[in-house]
Amino acid sequence: MEEAAHKKIIFSGIQPSGDLTLGSYMGAIKNWVALSDEYECYYCIVDMHAITVRQVPADLRRRALSQLAQYIACGLDPKKNTLFIQSHVPAHAQLGWVLDCYTMFGELSRMTQFKDKSSKNADNINAGLFTYPALMAADILLYQTDLVPVGGDQKQHVEICRDIAMRFNNIYGDVFTIPEPYIPPTGARIMSLTSPENKMSKSDKDPGGCIYIMQSPDDIMRCFKRAVTDSETGHCVYACPEKLGVTNLMQIYSVCTGKTMDEIEAEFDGMGYGAFKPAVGEAVVETLRPIREEAERLMKDKAYLEDILRDGAERAAYAANRELIYGALTDMGYACARPDGAFYLFLKSPEPDARAFCRRAMDYDILLVPGDDFGCPGYARLAYCVARSQLQRSLPAFRKLAESYGLSK
Ligand code: TRP
Repeated sequence: MEEAAHKKIIFSGIQPSGDLTLGSYMGAIKNWVALSDEYECYYCIVDMHAITVRQVPADLRRRALSQLAQYIACGLDPKKNTLFIQSHVPAHAQLGWVLDCYTMFGELSRMTQFKDKSSKNADNINAGLFTYPALMAADILLYQTDLVPVGGDQKQHVEICRDIAMRFNNIYGDVFTIPEPYIPPTGARIMSLTSPENKMSKSDKDPGGCIYIMQSPDDIMRCFKRAVTDSETGHCVYACPEKLGVTNLMQIYSVCTGKTMDEIEAEFDGMGYGAFKPAVGEAVVETLRPIREEAERLMKDKAYLEDILRDGAERAAYAANRELIYGALTDMGYACARPDGAFYLFLKSPEPDARAFCRRAMDYDILLVPGDDFGCPGYARLAYCVARSQLQRSLPAFRKLAESYGLSK
């Protein structure tokens, strides 16, 4: 427990807008697996971001569950990582709204993903698409995240998250940890098979450009046989900036086989693209086969997946609420509304020892419970749930208590 507290925190998310791609497997998830011992990791299925474009309800539901199965099949151990669905943890929406109010119109207008997505969805440029980065900032800041593993296309979003967090901290003190983008040491950037100048992506116009981890071996082979290379005479297999297609295929082959670029060049020396492309296809098929089979098996075990989701949401909600309720919202001046309609008031102890703070509060007829009881050292909670009107009546007492610490306005 002691040790866990010192681990750095990692948060990342992927939209359940389709099956995971070979690009996200090789570029992201494969690396996530390696991080779980050293870091405390939260991996989120961001279904709230997904509705910034229209979704078919049944598909969205199925994909969220299937994405979880795919995460686990890729090697993410649900015991070592917190795997959960964003919409299961309402704190994301709560902090998302708060951060909307600390995010500027101008900075959102400059986001390249917004410009890009709004030009592709001209008939549905909704406010959610615009404020997407504030919700993403909430995802990250809710867990006091240190590191955010993301691809290059998401770096701008991590930047704006940092800006929002610093703005908030400038006003209220050290509320949020300022996160850093995390570029894994062995991150592969997998490009489209048909337009290798673009990243492999679900939104590729040519369906042959993107490989999915759940795709059938026949389909995968077909895509690799059609993969774009170049017309250089001799069809030599070597990596260079002019041969984007071949370089990308070599990279994919390298991730599958563990061979270096030099070894691959030697292996296919004199054989041409006709032999090279199917060989890459075969290697990918064999790499993905156990993952696909495991994901298919897990998809048949809905009860197991739902258990994982319940457990993940519970763990995530605990951590998120601790930061949100005991941190951002109180610092900002909210008393916390409870679902039962009553109020708890959380106070940050002005003394290092929350117990001493509670003892002192008794002198002012305020009954406080030190935070340790509910897992949050350094804070105290009003001992009983009070109605709004009672809270009003206790205000003079709180004022006196605050004055005794020299905190009065
Ligand atoms: N915007 C990310 C993407 O499209 C997904 C995402 C949402 C995310 N929230 C996040 C990524 C928080 C990292 C951290 O890929």
